[in-house]
Amino acid sequence: MKFSQLGQRLAAGSGIELLMDDLGHALSGKGPAMHMLGGGNPAHIPEMEEVWARRMQELVNDAPGLRRTLAIYDPPRGNPRCIAALADLLNREFGWPVTAENIAVTPGGQTAFFFLFNLFSGPAEDGTLGKILFPITPEYIGYANQSLTEGGLVGRQPLIIKTGPHRFRYQIDFDALALGPDVRAMCISCPTNPSGNVLAPAEMRRLADVASKHHIPLIIDNAYGAPFPGILFAESLPIWSPETIHVMSLSKLGLPGTRTAFVVGPPHVASAVSSMMAVTGLANGNFGQSIVCPLMESGEIVRLSREVVGPYYRAKRDKALAAIAEFFPEDRPYFLHEPDGAMFLWLWLPGARITSRELYDRLKARGVLVVPGEYFFFGLSEASTDHHRHECVRISFAMDEDAARAGIRIIGEEIAKAWD
Ligand SMILES: Cc1ncc(COP(=O)(O)O)c(C=O)c1O
Repeated sequence: MKFSQLGQRLAAGSGIELLMDDLGHALSGKGPAMHMLGGGNPAHIPEMEEVWARRMQELVNDAPGLRRTLAIYDPPRGNPRCIAALADLLNREFGWPVTAENIAVTPGGQTAFFFLFNLFSGPAEDGTLGKILFPITPEYIGYANQSLTEGGLVGRQPLIIKTGPHRFRYQIDFDALALGPDVRAMCISCPTNPSGNVLAPAEMRRLADVASKHHIPLIIDNAYGAPFPGILFAESLPIWSPETIHVMSLSKLGLPGTRTAFVVGPPHVASAVSSMMAVTGLANGNFGQSIVCPLMESGEIVRLSREVVGPYYRAKRDKALAAIAEFFPEDRPYFLHEPDGAMFLWLWLPGARITSRELYDRLKARGVLVVPGEYFFFGLSEASTDHHRHECVRISFAMDEDAARAGIRIIGEEIAKAWD
């Protein structure tokens, strides 16, 4: 048996696979009990679980609805009623002039990015190699292996701004963006996984202007953003232009098992995504759409995001920050990215004598799972990020608060030795 070159690339393993594997083993209960500060699994929020249970019950009691959900293929673009409901919601909430033509459903955001990155990156008709540019790297680990073309993803280093004794933030280095003709799209997750960064409104507007000027799409990954799930603790700008493409997922609202996301962009992009869906998967799963459709029609999904999901994660973030203040060594030069959104703290240990990979191993041996930062620095040459890529780890605060506190205490003990 011989795998193709492409097969080998896709099957060669990746940061995301290592992460999912570690998580899977820890959750399977076979290894030692783990403090799970690694994964991106959303928390199980009791109020949201009640909503899902109620919606499932309503579906079971609605024979035609149940038949449509279980026994009928939707069109590849997605369920027309659900798509219309999202278009109306975006009109109402943000005043975006979108219709059903702007929207296509995909099996989760991960697949949406696979489609979009390969729609825009790779060899073009004129023989050039199209690229997706990430204006701030580190970026979401799950993008790293998604271009079918080697070299199809490129990153840019951000500015690093120290904002307090133990705080910093990344900012786009607009002078270094250097958009050549090979850049066919830009992409940013906002709030960002892993750093929790939220672009300031002026920064977002400026980035959108750069995309417009170059006539390339700006892909905005709203996995944690507005209007759902709303895991946002800072002001953000829900921007719409002929060049913006938003990806909105149901996962962090609490429905990762339904594998449902929406691409909202120019009609020809939504239509291309729908064609790619037909080729690769025929149609989407119907469950997620059936569950949330009435919640979109009534606007309940926005209320739940603002009043339940957002505040739930904010409280968890605050507890994690309090544990850090208590357990991290005040006299050591550790820095946390400003935690503006998502469910992670991004820890930077400038000048540490151990790499983030060594720290990960030490923590794992003590029963604490984090994610070593190096996997988030794809699309950059090793030299360009010198030490920074080996000095960061991602800590999730989505899990049980006692586990988060116990894990943070152990991380504090380990980083106290990191500069010795
Ligand atoms: C920033 C970001 N984008 C996309 C995804 C993909 O999520 P899903 O495929 O479940 O929608 C994730 C999942 O963790 C994420 O953190």
